[in-house]
Amino acid sequence: MLANHRSTLTQYLIEQRRRYPQASGELNGLILDVAIACKAIAGTVALGELGGNARSLEVNVQGEVQKALDVLANEVFMRRCEWSGQLAGMASEEMEAPHQIPDAYPRGKYLLVFDPLDGSSNIDVNLTVGSIFSILRAPADVIESGRDVTEADFLQPGAAQVAAGYALYGPSTMFMLTVGNGVAGFTLDPAVGEFMLTHPDVHVPEETREFAINASNSRFWEPPVKRYVDECLAGATGPRGKDFNMRWIASMVAEAHRILMRGGVFLYPRDTKDLAKAGRLRLLYETNPIGWLIEQAGGRVSTGRQPMLGVRPTALHQRIGCVFGSRAEVERIERYHHEPTPEVPVSPLFAERSLFR
Ligand code: AHG
Ligand code: MN
Ligand code: MN
Repeated sequence: MLANHRSTLTQYLIEQRRRYPQASGELNGLILDVAIACKAIAGTVALGELGGNARSLEVNVQGEVQKALDVLANEVFMRRCEWSGQLAGMASEEMEAPHQIPDAYPRGKYLLVFDPLDGSSNIDVNLTVGSIFSILRAPADVIESGRDVTEADFLQPGAAQVAAGYALYGPSTMFMLTVGNGVAGFTLDPAVGEFMLTHPDVHVPEETREFAINASNSRFWEPPVKRYVDECLAGATGPRGKDFNMRWIASMVAEAHRILMRGGVFLYPRDTKDLAKAGRLRLLYETNPIGWLIEQAGGRVSTGRQPMLGVRPTALHQRIGCVFGSRAEVERIERYHHEPTPEVPVSPLFAERSLFR
């Protein structure tokens, strides 16, 4: 189909809004601002070394080395989204405290939370990165008073999100979105400068033979995770009775995209590596938005122990164990967390040959 026969993101949003005659269009305006920010970031990402993207700067609030592009992407999000009067405040991976809407602009009823660049360790090597965002309603007293936002205003469960999505800066730039009515995917047409609807109704296949986990952490895994991975590795001769394939991009947004497109399961579970951290990924701007997209596409997201979207956050930069993807696999992993792990290895043959023992 020719690009000019496809719906644009704007058209899709207007059509979605028609389902709610009382809607003001403010949410649409905000999503379009986020999309413009993502187009700008896509342009800079594409410059690669020419843009000095991989330069390392300081250590950020997460204790991780910031790249020049992390900071630039954060700036782009703030400047593109703060002016329009839709937002009461913003928060991001790259800022310790929430960003207040400057006095020069009106304040609105939404909160924007984002990871301006996910997978940024991949910038140096020209691999896929992305931006993740989540939109929440500001608490009523914030909207009424127009007061500055505090960390507490953002501590809402994933189930309270009104929109979530991500942009993927891969071989093509994509924008994946949910407003609570399934998942739609758009591909940037560089000739037109617009996101075109290319994936109108995304579904995560229920069954899979593909899993993704950072296996270098295996000695820190909890027994249910070890059991699950061992069973996958045992393949056709193990209890699963089928061979599995493994992937690890170290860019969660790219793994999530692969899983949305063809199924699979992703694990960054809670482990014993650093007991001060409950997991690697961040709840508010990584696992909640990605998790909601996955669930809107028929998949499942969990901490391993409980549904992710029900977790009541306790801190803006809270980390959490995360498992998402094809429903049957995530349910199996949850079950393993709730039942005692069998003492006996998966299979005597496999026990000797296991990569991870
Ligand atoms: P960010 O670049 O925003 O800090 O996030 C990186 C995250 C996530 O994208 C990825 O899955 C994970 O870190 C990679 O972790 P490892 O370095 O342990 O592979
Ligand atoms: Mn990230
Ligand atoms: Mn990031």
